[in-house]
Amino acid sequence: MADERLIAALDFHRMEDVERLVTALGDSVSYYKVGMELFYSVGAQVVTWLRQQGKDVFLDLKLHDIPNTAAGGICSLMRLGATMLNIHASGGYTMMKTTAERMHAEAEKMGIPCPKLIAVTVLTSINQDDWEGMGQALQIKGAVVRLAKLAKKAGLDGVVASAQEAALIREACGEDFLIVTPGIRPAGCDVNDQSRVVTPARALSDGATQLVIGRPIYAAVDPKHAALQILEEMEKVK
Ligand code: C5P
Repeated sequence: MADERLIAALDFHRMEDVERLVTALGDSVSYYKVGMELFYSVGAQVVTWLRQQGKDVFLDLKLHDIPNTAAGGICSLMRLGATMLNIHASGGYTMMKTTAERMHAEAEKMGIPCPKLIAVTVLTSINQDDWEGMGQALQIKGAVVRLAKLAKKAGLDGVVASAQEAALIREACGEDFLIVTPGIRPAGCDVNDQSRVVTPARALSDGATQLVIGRPIYAAVDPKHAALQILEEMEKVK
């Protein structure tokens, strides 16, 4: 039934919407993404509730601060029971390394499985103009690969990236590296505000390890049917 490569985004701000969707999806989805909107609105209880339902949780809060503060923040989130967490690679090597080390040490001390820690390389919303305005000289794609390699060297488990960058990252970072991709649209589905979309099968065959999918599931007339169709497509790429 469920495929851990599918992460359904809970882009809501009310707990009742979360409960309704998770109940409707039942056993078809075992992994959910909680982002800033939901977490800042309902707080830690959403993670606790999802864990009680036996679900895995990707806590997508994209921490970016000095090493000591980012590491402390990640350890606090880990204690809530998150399965996967993320930080900005642009926080630098020392920040990523300190955070990964402190998270591993804290998990060991607590005797719990260590969550996965992944990095945001360059936000996919940043275009070349934004990029140059920030004084960056490298091409965005080059920067994405460079930051992905830096994240790997710092001991992180993977990156969040556009599916269009997955093949390059896979080539640069090797097999044992998570590539979590949003911007996924099954064929024939509304692209909404995403500008560069990729189908589930294409993203997986290009090297994505997990797909974050929001509106194609939660905004569907029948979310469970939509999830099952996506899972059927994913099943073809193992
Ligand atoms: O509804 P949709 O499938 O477009 O949602 C994608 C999810 O992934 C949303 O939660 C969105 O915030 C997130 N995301 C994204 N692009 C990124 C990073 C995260 O769409 N670069």
